[in-house]
Amino acid sequence: MRALDRRPEAPLLECGAWDAGLEIAANAAGWPDDGMLVPLNIGASVSCQAGAGAWAVVPPDELLPAEASFAVVRAPHWLGRTGVEWVVRAAARALPPGGLLALLGDRARGIESLRRRLTPMVGPIIDRAAAEHRRLYVFERQVEDPPPQQFAWTSTQRIAGRKVNLCRHPTLFSPTRVDPATALLAENLPDNDGRWLDLGCGSGALTVAAARPDRELTALDWSYAAVETTRRTLAANGVEADVLLADGGPSGEEAFDVTLCYPPFHVGPRVDHGPAARLIRAACNCLQADGELRVVLTSAQSPRDLLQPHFREISPVASAHGARVFSCRQPTAARGRCR
Ligand SMILES: C[S@@+](CC[C@H](N)C(=O)[O-])C[C@H]1O[C@@H](n2cnc3c(N)ncnc32)[C@H](O)[C@@H]1O
Repeated sequence: MRALDRRPEAPLLECGAWDAGLEIAANAAGWPDDGMLVPLNIGASVSCQAGAGAWAVVPPDELLPAEASFAVVRAPHWLGRTGVEWVVRAAARALPPGGLLALLGDRARGIESLRRRLTPMVGPIIDRAAAEHRRLYVFERQVEDPPPQQFAWTSTQRIAGRKVNLCRHPTLFSPTRVDPATALLAENLPDNDGRWLDLGCGSGALTVAAARPDRELTALDWSYAAVETTRRTLAANGVEADVLLADGGPSGEEAFDVTLCYPPFHVGPRVDHGPAARLIRAACNCLQADGELRVVLTSAQSPRDLLQPHFREISPVASAHGARVFSCRQPTAARGRCR
């Protein structure tokens, strides 16, 4: 952003923020100390709040039209093409006509093809800068009514032999199809009744697959869009469940007989198995002593690293296309004490 020769007008905005980097950079550059950070999940929200100073941290659905004068998007390439486009559109909607949108990203991550697709949705590029593989484009918002995002917001899928009306969101995991590992877990659920938790529910496919009259379902995710999309998926299938926005496990004393989990490969810009480890720990912490975690791991995820520290009994249940489903029982620590 140092490449910009103009001083942005307040309020500033970062859409899809995962930390308070923009606020810190703005302070260092002597820009106005008035802005908003819009994270996509509550983990990012906590990181934003830690450094936000006077800036507001606002969930995406509370961002108002024309609320900011200058918006920044550090292209969140790990969300894929549709996710990045959704974030840019949300940032553009928050600008008045004539407002400026700065898009930063890597050449190797497709920033140039993204830039070409954005002009018809936002407006012309009025400034640009380059440093090695990094690119910065500044768009002026001139398009008042961009065409809607080309995205299948709903679809009907067969999951574990059941017809499921799936709602979707561009920023969620596997936004255009049911991931094969999700399908494998759905096909290999335990037969128990009782209290079930879908931990990291995404768009709610596993919650619907688990629905049975003798099960009390809870779905949980830390992504704002996931919680909203799961609620819509459940309504579209006539399934009832508590849907919680939380980081890791539920905050209360609830204990579950069965927890389902497809842990993330990474969250945010770096590939990192820490988020998967945190979710497995959370699963362990909210299981009944005789409960079961039924989990699917991809070939890049190690059962030895992720599961063995927390469970004494780990049995393979199914595998296909590099994904493996495990049944995990007998937590190594008392409930709430897995670290
Ligand atoms: C691999 S996706 C699986 C989504 C869904 N269960 C499916 O199979 O399509 C992992 C999910 O975990 C969620 N997640 C990651 N870290 C989390 C955390 N700390 N707390 C709650 N949810 C988390 C992500 O938002 C994402 O929806």
